[in-house]
Amino acid sequence: MNKQKWLAGLTAVLCSAGALSCFPAISGTVSAAELVSNDFEVNYGGWYGSADAVALTAEDGIGHNTSRGMSVTGRTSTSDGASAEKGFYLSGGETYTYSVWVYSETAERFHLSLSCADLDTAQETETELTAKQTRAGKWTELSASYRAPENSGEFRMTITTDSTNDFVFDDVTVTGKSDSSEVSAAAEEKGLKDEFADYFRVGNILNGSTVKNSTITASVLKDYNSIECENETKPDATLVQSQCSETNIGVSLNNAASIMDFCVNNNIAMRGHTLVWHSQTPLWFFKENFNASGNWVSSAVMDQRMESYIKNMFAAIKTQYPDLNLYAYDVANECISDDSNRTANNGGTREPGENISGQSPWVQVYGSNAFVEKAFTYARKYAPESCALYYNDYNEYWDHKRDAIYSMCKSLYEKGLLDGIGMQSHINADYDGFSGVSAYTTAMKKFLSIGCDLQITELDITMENGKYTLQQQADKYKAIFQAAMDWNKNPSSDGRVTAVCIWGPNDANTWIKTENTPLLYDTNHQPKLAYTTLTSMIPQSEWGDGSNPGGNDKPIEPNEYGWYFQSTFEGDTDSWEGRGSADVLTSGRTAYVGSEALLVQ
Ligand code: GLA
Repeated sequence: MNKQKWLAGLTAVLCSAGALSCFPAISGTVSAAELVSNDFEVNYGGWYGSADAVALTAEDGIGHNTSRGMSVTGRTSTSDGASAEKGFYLSGGETYTYSVWVYSETAERFHLSLSCADLDTAQETETELTAKQTRAGKWTELSASYRAPENSGEFRMTITTDSTNDFVFDDVTVTGKSDSSEVSAAAEEKGLKDEFADYFRVGNILNGSTVKNSTITASVLKDYNSIECENETKPDATLVQSQCSETNIGVSLNNAASIMDFCVNNNIAMRGHTLVWHSQTPLWFFKENFNASGNWVSSAVMDQRMESYIKNMFAAIKTQYPDLNLYAYDVANECISDDSNRTANNGGTREPGENISGQSPWVQVYGSNAFVEKAFTYARKYAPESCALYYNDYNEYWDHKRDAIYSMCKSLYEKGLLDGIGMQSHINADYDGFSGVSAYTTAMKKFLSIGCDLQITELDITMENGKYTLQQQADKYKAIFQAAMDWNKNPSSDGRVTAVCIWGPNDANTWIKTENTPLLYDTNHQPKLAYTTLTSMIPQSEWGDGSNPGGNDKPIEPNEYGWYFQSTFEGDTDSWEGRGSADVLTSGRTAYVGSEALLVQ
């Protein structure tokens, strides 16, 4: 097996929560294992609609054996259906048995197919695993064994029918053979997340393609305990135009499903990014009738749209991935202008306009940056309590921009709306100068003086096509990690630098040109000097446990009795929900404390 495939097998076994219980305790034995097991009782398992308008909704009672099952609606073509990337769990050259239970109110011909890519040429092939005629109203199992070619990966399962009718599916399993000794080998790998576990989370990004790359996902498991979607949770990836009405904005997590599933299965926290941004947000979102060539809407209409979008995004994440540790979210991104004239005279706003050359449709509609406070107000209303709300920007070390960000965020923090500031940190390797270490740490400390948290959210340090050396790059990475550590060591800091996140897994996967080589791993995913310099900052004997990092998520404070959770359910179910077909409600029938209790029926 080549290295990439070995890693795929190993990470596959590690992450499949359902699979672990199937392994015998004796390490080294080979046995049949469920590598994929999606019953949709809690999370959506990375399944998504294969077109924007296709909605997947897990509903109680509609599943196989009346459990929770997944309905597929909104299909407009026979190729529309439900898909899930399973490459993380499977490898080429192995025989697996694929199974799924399907149901429809109508008689249907169902298809279960698998696509996979050649790992050298990236050429994708789709194979129909099985097709079956089903009777109306009758659950049927689609099942087949299949061995994909030796050098293949990036497996995607898809379920469709010959019609465009709605259908339901449930209990997806992929069973194969696995060596349980690989599990402990993977679990023992230590990396950046462990080194800095007692200081802050260390993060990176995944996108729809890197999440399918087993070399990258294996290195994420080793190094990072925070993941952000590079593009998949931005407004242009989540807004669904065909499902928008004035009072309800359609959203979809189709693009983010694989990444959220990866995080849930591997106990990796997620930074959400981003709700309100002038860029990567379709123009129609700001226009009458959701028509890109229409007139701009009023700020009152935009208030409604923004509130609904924010509400629906948090609701979708909670519904589909309740186990996701969504610990931070960039509520607003890049709202302060680079132009010192505008920071001085226009309250920091960008120029209004259609996002040509950095103009902002938000400013166009509101006439000012008033939408920022509104965005935070809505986010506070709908975000889970454990999710810290961030303002995120770049060039924050530029004095006039820094000061405008400081004033805006201080006011939001004092109103209880903002929890932290994100410093993107797309910088060069010059130790001094514009984005030099001194200017950078001055800005960092100024933001921390507000009293809020701070995260370095998108760190990449360009070598500008050879202008700077690997040593200079390593020194600058080190200085930034050091500044974050120093702050957290400061007795008055309360550990308020809560994450340092890198923007890209390797130099082959960076938003700036590859020749600028800004990241910790090179184009062949080999660690660079910057990486080894970082991993030498703390002696290994002092590394912590990054899968369970200490001191950087908001601690839950016990109440006056020293209890971390207490509810006597007085007129409030306190977020308890029925599971399966059970209902929960408050009842005065029998109360242990107070006058009501939670009745489960
Ligand atoms: C900004 C955004 C990111 C990303 C980068 C480029 O920093 O916040 O989401 O688009 O630009 O990758």
